[in-house]
Amino acid sequence: MNDEMIGRPRALPADKGLIAEQLERTRERTLGLFDLAQEKHLHQSPGFGYRPIIWHLAHIGAFEEHWILQRAKGDAPLDRGYMRLFDPIKTPREESRDLPSRREMEDYLGRVRERTLSFLERASFTTETPLLRDAYVFHLVLEHERQHQETLLYLFQLLPLEKKNALPPVDERRDAEDSAVLTAESVSSDAREHWIRVPEGECVIGAVWSVFAYDNEFPSHTVHLPAFEIARTPVTNAEYLCFVEEGGYQRREFWSAQGWAWREREGWTAPLYWQRDEDGWTLRTIFQQRPLPLAHPVWGISWYEAEAYARFIGKRLPTEAEWERAASWDGARKRLYAWGDEPPSAKRCNFGAERWNTTPVNAFIHGRSACGCLDMTGNVWEWTASVFGPYDGFRPFPYPEYSAEWFDGDHRVLKGGSWATSASVLRTSFRNFFRRHFRIAFAGVRCAAEAN
Ligand code: AVJ
Ligand code: FE
Repeated sequence: MNDEMIGRPRALPADKGLIAEQLERTRERTLGLFDLAQEKHLHQSPGFGYRPIIWHLAHIGAFEEHWILQRAKGDAPLDRGYMRLFDPIKTPREESRDLPSRREMEDYLGRVRERTLSFLERASFTTETPLLRDAYVFHLVLEHERQHQETLLYLFQLLPLEKKNALPPVDERRDAEDSAVLTAESVSSDAREHWIRVPEGECVIGAVWSVFAYDNEFPSHTVHLPAFEIARTPVTNAEYLCFVEEGGYQRREFWSAQGWAWREREGWTAPLYWQRDEDGWTLRTIFQQRPLPLAHPVWGISWYEAEAYARFIGKRLPTEAEWERAASWDGARKRLYAWGDEPPSAKRCNFGAERWNTTPVNAFIHGRSACGCLDMTGNVWEWTASVFGPYDGFRPFPYPEYSAEWFDGDHRVLKGGSWATSASVLRTSFRNFFRRHFRIAFAGVRCAAEAN
């Protein structure tokens, strides 16, 4: 049986020095994120129904302990209480209260990490054990921590401005220069139609490279799709503003029955972080209240709102296969990122929480996909029409709770990554998934339609 058939990627890079360095760099970033607010705020829920921000710190350590020390190495638990409290299934959200201090959690993470590094030194990665072969479990732990970094930023975004420390130092000048140059370039060389026609044809779906991927990205397979149209860019705040101002949230005809029920119950009238002042609309980004940036993508919307918007303009959401074809297929082979296989950089997309904000949807001409779509990698996640489910031949690996648990019909697939997504999570095969009413992700939408 080959790797894809058991739900794991083939031949991953297993250089121990490199892995140790990535573990170190990722951890440094994780710990830095907890400086964004004072500890008393980290111990409270940032918003109704969410766990205290600090919970994620020990959860990251408990995941590492479980997978590397217990499952791969065979150790007994360091702390049974931690294993229970920081397992999302064993301890539901409502019970994640009265948590240990940041200092105590950091000590725990340190103890786990010390053992992880000594195991890394002596473990053999040329084995038949799927969990250890090519250092799979180390890649899993890295990927998990990076995904939680993004989740942490959703929670910090949710936290009111006055509970946060000052904006971390960003190179504002470099940022402004980059955007100016790239925008001018895209306007001059890319002023074509907004709707792109993708002709009937094939596309390989799923992960086909020697990089980490989750079980739900396997087995890769070829699909044949009829022609369709897809928007060059995600929906901008300017476009979404028309929906809001033309009564989109009051007009029943744009909404599905379930979407309308959620809209009524929750009282949605605009995206989550929009606010209307005397002078017009403002947007609360992670550190600032600012005038609504019209050329940036809309985000802070549920799947139901994305669907209603698409109906408002007479379009629909793309299926995940359509999205993946438009983002990754160059006619003969599948690209790791929209532009090709070269690693993400500040010239090609907005990622890795370097800018702490979205960018204009047409800012990255060098990030364009083969068919001409912009902003498919990074900036905001994009909701698709597709229910999160298994590909034909799916096998849960290494545990059903990562993917299979969420094949429940309510989760929808999101693609592409956001400004807060780490480079390794930006692969075109990555399938993010949230419930349809979930609004706190950095997620917007790109519309599609039947081709005529
Ligand atoms: C893929 C982002 C939906 O946060 O629930 C983290 C990722 N899985 N720990 C989530 C995840 C286990 C997952 N999402
Ligand atoms: Fe987790």
